[in-house]
Amino acid sequence: MMMLVKVERISHLNKELLEDLIKVYLDGYSTMPYYHYKKRKDVKWYIRWLYRRDSDGIFIATYNNKPIGFIACDANWDEFLGAIHEIVVMRKFQRKGIGSKLLQTGLCYLKKKGIKLVELYVGEKNTGAIRFYKKFGFKEAGLYGIWLRMILEL
Ligand SMILES: CC(C)(COP(=O)(O)OP(=O)(O)OC[C@H]1O[C@@H](n2cnc3c(N)ncnc32)[C@H](O)[C@@H]1OP(=O)(O)O)[C@@H](O)C(=O)NCCC(=O)NCCS
Repeated sequence: MMMLVKVERISHLNKELLEDLIKVYLDGYSTMPYYHYKKRKDVKWYIRWLYRRDSDGIFIATYNNKPIGFIACDANWDEFLGAIHEIVVMRKFQRKGIGSKLLQTGLCYLKKKGIKLVELYVGEKNTGAIRFYKKFGFKEAGLYGIWLRMILEL
């Protein structure tokens, strides 16, 4: 069955959308013991922080008009250096190409903003996500505590 999933930029982080993104985040990470915020209030603070960093850089994937995944990019990280701070898809929608769609959209956005190098930090044992990023050409660029830095030239 074809799933109609749309990817779009968020225009404003209103209360309802914030609640939806908190749900997406908590669900998407629910099987993972580390590398994420667990308390609702921390997730809320974090999503607001993502929006403050780059209010044009958040894209959501929706199914039946409900968010099921999102990516948070940052074109203001440093000169020519962009970041992907977050990407998450709800559990039952994972491995269906939605993360790829979000990542493609995010990379395209950063490129348009003049970013030449993208970095992200992924939990060193988050092998699924590491494989996912490698598929897009990201390379390992050092271990910082429990975080693996990965970079991609655009
Ligand atoms: C990482 C994540 C965003 C990927 O999204 P997704 O929609 O599941 O990814 P896709 O379906 O587009 O996967 C594309 C390819 O990446 C690789 N991949 C993705 N998830 C994988 C996993 N868990 N294990 C192994 N390979 C994986 C596969 O090669 C996959 O292609 P295939 O399904 O044809 O084999 C999603 O798994 C997720 O939300 N994980 C929890 C949050 C997280 O860890 N975020 C990253 C933080 S740095």
